[in-house]
Amino acid sequence: MSSSNTPTDAFPDIAPITVPDHPSWPLLSGADKEKLTKDIEAMLAAQNAVLVAHYYTRADLQALAEKTGGCVADSLEMARFGARQTAETLVVAGVRFMGETAKILNPEKRVIMPDLGATCSLDEACPPGPFGEFCDRHPAHTVVVYANTSARVKARADWVVTSSIAVPVIRHLAARGEKILWAPDKHLGSYLRETTGADMLLWPGSCVVHEEFKSVALQRLARLHPGAAILVHPESPESVIALADVVGSTTALIQAVSSMPNKTFIVATDKGIFYKMRQAAPDRMLIEAPTVGEGATCQACAECPWMGMNSLQNLAETLKTGSNEILIDPEIREKAVIPIRRMLDFAENMKNKA
Ligand code: 13P
Ligand code: SF4
Repeated sequence: MSSSNTPTDAFPDIAPITVPDHPSWPLLSGADKEKLTKDIEAMLAAQNAVLVAHYYTRADLQALAEKTGGCVADSLEMARFGARQTAETLVVAGVRFMGETAKILNPEKRVIMPDLGATCSLDEACPPGPFGEFCDRHPAHTVVVYANTSARVKARADWVVTSSIAVPVIRHLAARGEKILWAPDKHLGSYLRETTGADMLLWPGSCVVHEEFKSVALQRLARLHPGAAILVHPESPESVIALADVVGSTTALIQAVSSMPNKTFIVATDKGIFYKMRQAAPDRMLIEAPTVGEGATCQACAECPWMGMNSLQNLAETLKTGSNEILIDPEIREKAVIPIRRMLDFAENMKNKA
């Protein structure tokens, strides 16, 4: 049943994405870091705020989120956690779409982020105008978008999915005979098409971090570690996914290191995940999948430059000044919340059936 894009599905031209250098934050002395952390803890408490951090953020932010009763999670769980909180303020350490999702689900709460410029190459590759026109040209398709998109793009979608729920949602839609317009990640899209057999049109976006993993170098590395399991996030190219023992969301990959019997793991996703993987399975050997090798143009080198825009320093500044608040046009919010809620309800249903 699966179909490929045809020339009539021509995509609009999208401006190339500028990948910033990975930000380098001044090193803090032990005493300075301790003081800054204490200040942040005090501000979080005084402002009735919780810190919600993604697995790709710096280890010190993840540790602080855990210590202060916040959460460290994948993008689906970040959305769920924020919605369960009684706190008045959600401080989202991650990229902009994560802050926007938190605001869409919690319009009554203040949502702030250390840096509003922390975007995502997938979000950038899917501008709402051209995307809307493309949807208009395919009115018979169900529009499913990845969470890594702007509020405006979500407002145009029938479904939003994250990597941890994408397969069952697409399978569910395919079983109902629906044709799917998928955006923006072409690699995740082709993995979904391959796994479920769904009829999918794929928008041509990609993640600049996962795009850099190299299959030839990965095969070579795997030969040096014959007992190692290869863990791959599905934003990676097809040739890398083909070598994986486990393909899954960040949470699924963390669970794999503690549940699989292997002693060694080669991990194809952002390096930030190693903080949680080491916590989950301290006795395992973790190796970064290669971003070098034939045809390599490694710019991000397995470290998302936008996730790297979050630090203890600018988190403290945001809490101090109240700046960097996420605001969403109420009309957009009203539309965007529908496909996000659909995903959360679907996830809840799945949990209840399990
Ligand atoms: P997860 O939903 O698996 O956390 O992925 C988010 C993301 O941006 C991966 O690059
Ligand atoms: Fe976006 Fe890739 Fe960064 Fe995830 S790792 S936030 S998909 S650019």
